[in-house]
Amino acid sequence: MGERRVCSVSFRRDAESSERGARLALRGLRVAAKRGLWGVGRMLELFDATKTYTQGRRTVSAVRGVSLRVNTGEFVTIMGPSGSGKSTLMHLMGALDTPSSGRAVFQGQDLQAMSDRQRSILRRDRIGFVFQAFNLLPTLTAAENVALPLLLGRGGRRAALARAAECLDKVGLAHRAEHFPDELSGGEMQRVAVARALVADPDAVLCDEPTGNLDTANSRDILTLLSKLPEPGKRAVVMVTHDPAGATYGTRLVKIRDGLVEADEAVRR
Ligand SMILES: Nc1ncnc2c1ncn2[C@@H]1O[C@H](COP(=O)(O)OP(=O)(O)O)[C@@H](O)[C@H]1O
Ligand SMILES: [Mg+2]
Repeated sequence: MGERRVCSVSFRRDAESSERGARLALRGLRVAAKRGLWGVGRMLELFDATKTYTQGRRTVSAVRGVSLRVNTGEFVTIMGPSGSGKSTLMHLMGALDTPSSGRAVFQGQDLQAMSDRQRSILRRDRIGFVFQAFNLLPTLTAAENVALPLLLGRGGRRAALARAAECLDKVGLAHRAEHFPDELSGGEMQRVAVARALVADPDAVLCDEPTGNLDTANSRDILTLLSKLPEPGKRAVVMVTHDPAGATYGTRLVKIRDGLVEADEAVRR
């Protein structure tokens, strides 16, 4: 009897401890996933990246050794004084440029290891860009501007315009589809640019001073729109801005000074 009881007690203990072990392991996995270990949620990474420009005899160190990781679901705001290297950093993250040293990695792919053509395909298919000056083509309608990245690819014109209509609807501009840029307000032009950035359903949306040419009300509209884009496991947004109010829309604020990260902190809401 006594022996059996001992056996059943020790069996129960084993079961309890293995259940506890499994629970701990699961918790570990969840923490790892949240932190982006093992590549879960990893989107953009810089490893000690530098960028030096040479003009004649003069060299400028625009980025001087930045390590940074952006995960899916994040809306990272980058702030810093003019000339501190923010745009250069964004170009490195968006495969528009490659580092002078260090590494830039997009979804685990080393950008330097790719050819120019591979990088341009990656940008076309997986990254959406929004710039301060909207960069819309004046001779194309809003719908054609949005559809342009797809029209340059292999898909048909009709499918491209249908997708453009969806994206214009998403930014609240379905009724402006046939308007030309000079018939739109600044806020509307930037919303068209956001729709264009979304047309290929990108994994990363990179914005360089997207509210730089807008008044306060239009800036807020654009920031609200951008803040809805990140999705855990799917999409991240990175925005360079001068506007301290802009940072309140993000989930994380990275401060840059003289080509280096000065601070990197979560934004409290
Ligand atoms: N293509 C380039 N050629 C030479 N110098 C450049 C180039 N792009 C940027 N720079 C220099 O690099 C520094 C950082 O520029 P940038 O990244 O544009 O800063 P920010 O966006 O923070 O204003 C500046 O000193 C700028 O003049
Ligand atoms: Mg800049």
